Amino acid sequence: MQAFVYESGRLFAEGVAVEDLARRYGTPLYVYSRNHLRERYRAIVSAMAEMKPLVCYSVKANSNAAVIKTLVDEGSGFDIVSGGELFRALRAGADANKIVYAGVGKTRDEIEYALRERIGFFTVESESEAARISECARHLGIPGRIAFRVNPDVDPQTHKYISTGKKENKFGLDLERVVKAYEMAAALPGLEIAGLHLHIGSQILSADPFGQALRKIKEMCLALKAKYPTFRTIDIGGGLGIDYKADQQALDPAVYAAAVMPLLRELDLKVVMEPGRSIVGNAGILVCRVQVVKASHFKTFIVVDAGMNDLIRPSLYQAHHEIKAVTETSKTVMGDLVGPICESGDFLAQDRELPDVKEGDLMAAFSAGAYGFAMSSNYNSRPRAAEVMVDGNDAYLIRRRETWEDIVRGESIP
Ligand code: LLP
Repeated sequence: MQAFVYESGRLFAEGVAVEDLARRYGTPLYVYSRNHLRERYRAIVSAMAEMKPLVCYSVKANSNAAVIKTLVDEGSGFDIVSGGELFRALRAGADANKIVYAGVGKTRDEIEYALRERIGFFTVESESEAARISECARHLGIPGRIAFRVNPDVDPQTHKYISTGKKENKFGLDLERVVKAYEMAAALPGLEIAGLHLHIGSQILSADPFGQALRKIKEMCLALKAKYPTFRTIDIGGGLGIDYKADQQALDPAVYAAAVMPLLRELDLKVVMEPGRSIVGNAGILVCRVQVVKASHFKTFIVVDAGMNDLIRPSLYQAHHEIKAVTETSKTVMGDLVGPICESGDFLAQDRELPDVKEGDLMAAFSAGAYGFAMSSNYNSRPRAAEVMVDGNDAYLIRRRETWEDIVRGESIP
């Protein structure tokens, strides 16, 4: 389904006019489509149905409680990367047993929290982390289930900041090191070898790198399975790309499944997946209001009330988000869509053909559901945006706009 479509020139989120949402909740405003979320989750589950995968939605992409709960109700598990994400997932009703915990720098407190809550397993990124989990597990008398994250050294052909499976990236263990790491971990008390983990990067539009990565680890994985009776799981991570532009083709879960399924059949292990962006990315837009239109003879700057603190992807990754006017217009202007922050890097679009809008008009940045609000900050002491979820003809405020008081809460003057 297309979550956001124009009807008679007005942009709708499912059955609700976006201008009505902006009037009711103010701007900048994140708007999510609940049915789009559900549909993308189901598309992945059904493409991979033969494997009966445990889909662990990657909480970092969008960690709002309403998003998590929508997926809890679909049966989803969760991929987390911090104690905070574990707290969020549990608070929103996640089943601890269906939680997998990744990350290169888990602290002792975070590990003990996860052990006490009895999460599914830890994906482990170094030998010393395995040793640390062993100590915590012994200390609490709760076994720690682990899967080493392997860095298969394949090129996922994505932005360098979101590539994780190349040998120069900080993630996982090199293939040559993994077998020894398992031997070391198997000898440590309190650990149970649960399986193996892969995650090669994000916003990957071709299925080939996923197939390549599995081919590279297949023999080793079969050997580990034969050696350790508790080795029953392969976690193939996330990374499926979405279409940010009209001329871009999202990686269809069916195409992805066709590439990985033959290898997964050979491995014959329980499959875990960790998609984030492909579930939530196109389920969200960021709505903002034009404050100023500043035209010089050089170019036009459209200044809106959302900035890099609300959506940092264009500044950080030169990411492209489609920009549209909430009331459709065919007239365009060349220029930049910028925010109110004191940084030249504060833009949502640069040197682009933009809708020809005037002050007071509403605009929307598309494909902002993943790594949008989740990466937002209070820079320039800007309260974070409100978030709304639409389900059919109903809209729910799922996070109120922050206030100035919220911003200073926690500070004290000595
Ligand atoms: N699993 C692990 C271990 C991860 O590190 C990630 C994302 C995922 C799963 C989910 O990947 P996805 O399916 O969403 O591609 N902020 C960047 C993306 C960073 C991704 C970090 N890891 C962006 O805005 O593009």
